[in-house]
Amino acid sequence: MYIFNNITIVLLLSFLINTYQYLRVDALDNEPLPVVLWHGMGDSCCFSFSLGKIKNIIENEIPGVYVKSIKIGNDVVEDVMNSYFKNVNEQINEVCRDLSNDDKLKNGYNAIGFSQGGQFLRAIAQRCPTPQMKNLISLGGQHQGVYGLPNCGSIHHPLCDYLRKMLNYGAYTKFVQSRLVQAEYWHDPLQEDEYKKNSAFLADINNELIVNKTYKENLQRLNRLVLVLFENDTMVQPRESEWFGFYKPGQSVELQTLQQSQLYKEDRLGLNKMDNNGKIHFLSVMGNHLQFTNHWFNETIIQNYLL
Ligand SMILES: *[C@@H]1O[C@H](CO)[C@@H](O)[C@H](O)[C@H]1NC(C)=O
Ligand SMILES: *[C@@H]1O[C@H](CO)[C@@H](O)[C@H](O)[C@H]1NC(C)=O
Ligand SMILES: *[C@@H]1O[C@H](CO)[C@@H](O)[C@H](O)[C@H]1NC(C)=O
Repeated sequence: MYIFNNITIVLLLSFLINTYQYLRVDALDNEPLPVVLWHGMGDSCCFSFSLGKIKNIIENEIPGVYVKSIKIGNDVVEDVMNSYFKNVNEQINEVCRDLSNDDKLKNGYNAIGFSQGGQFLRAIAQRCPTPQMKNLISLGGQHQGVYGLPNCGSIHHPLCDYLRKMLNYGAYTKFVQSRLVQAEYWHDPLQEDEYKKNSAFLADINNELIVNKTYKENLQRLNRLVLVLFENDTMVQPRESEWFGFYKPGQSVELQTLQQSQLYKEDRLGLNKMDNNGKIHFLSVMGNHLQFTNHWFNETIIQNYLL
């Protein structure tokens, strides 16, 4: 009798534990995937008129979602300054560590990059496979770099002149490459070889000089690479860079698409396969750089890629 009772209790307990575990797993499965944001040049993680607002929109639309807006430095001022002056490769390492240490991201996350944040998050996808990025949404990111800083940001900034001077002084010198963020994705089509050899960031993540298989493999692990181009962008030159297009080498007038580029033809980054499998979504939206409505962001980005 006694034994029988014990067995009953054990069975009952094991039933309860299993049920509990089942419910817990179920609850975890239903938790919305976290979202990681990386802001653009001259911006910060948390301004209420920029990424703070985006964070709110996402949180309102996806109840319970964890949204992490990347901040480089100890405060908002440092964060803004670092978007110009902190070596990008160091930024990527730092953010990689930060994401890996964040327990809430361990089951993966979606990522949205704003302007230069787009190519920085692609570097995270390629160099930092854990935790796993699922969808990467690049809003006006410059995946083939830029050649020109016409408006130099939507906010007119005294830094703008300084940036130009540094880039004119020598974008591909070690001095500038290690200090100026925008130089690290400066792509001079008249000096393709210099670019490939000396670009400390972009040429590396685009596998220009060597093919890093790890980059290819890691990029393939994305579910979706969503590239949003702003049709009336006057800030990014050429705006086709937002879709991996760029000037044909040797001149700065004629453009080529991703599909026409050596990067694609030589399959240096595995984008061909992703493109053929429909993993790359080329979207465009009317308006200047990063000018989009809440309605567009909700219907196109949140509903299609974050839910
Ligand atoms: C390829 O990229 C990985 C990840 O960043 C890095 O550890 C490795 O050294 C790179 N390999 C080469 C040959 O550059
Ligand atoms: C924006 O670009 C689109 C597509 O190129 C064009 O049809 C439209 O007229 C442009 N709008 C403005 C205000 O320039
Ligand atoms: C976002 O889009 C969904 C689906 O169309 C809609 O139900 C929801 O009301 C929209 N949110 C806002 C704030 O408009």
